[in-house]
Amino acid sequence: VVGFSNCDEALDWIEINSPDVAFLDINMRGINGIALAEKLIIGSDHGGFELKKEVIAHLEKRGIEVTDVGTSSTESCNYPDYARALCKRIQSGEFERGILVCGTGIGISIAANKVKGIRCALCSDTFSAHATREHNDANMLAFGARVLGAGTALKIVDTFLDTPFSNDERHMRRIAKIEKGE
Ligand code: RB5
Repeated sequence: VVGFSNCDEALDWIEINSPDVAFLDINMRGINGIALAEKLIIGSDHGGFELKKEVIAHLEKRGIEVTDVGTSSTESCNYPDYARALCKRIQSGEFERGILVCGTGIGISIAANKVKGIRCALCSDTFSAHATREHNDANMLAFGARVLGAGTALKIVDTFLDTPFSNDERHMRRIAKIEKGE
């Protein structure tokens, strides 16, 4: 498995190494994942608002275009409203990946996972962020601003965005079973 931080790097590697077709196919999935992740949607409630601002700044520094569905202040609001507004835009195919932040990450991830097609992983560590991409092909990440400091949260975000789905048959089979239950 070869990892790249952007499409240009991947294309240079392909040009130099001339991989065979099967290998190239596997890598193309990774390239697509990274390319689509260059555009991302984010949302929070009042509890997640301050941390969300730091996440947005970090993503923009990475060159990712970020759409923020709100909330836009620390004034009290209802996290399911923002979870739903964001998830609808993933469901429609407009975005491939999303991030949600609330106080604990719990309420907002529960709300997100009610939406068909959403696999929102609540993560408080990078191991989980890595595993949920590899195993669950999670399309959304949630975390709690009252649980994590910004340093850990940003490492979790990077791990989530940079880890491709394994494409392993056993994981695809299990995801299909999740979808069957929706
Ligand atoms: C808001 O006070 C808080 O309940 C919310 O941010 C979240 O932690 C819910 O799960």
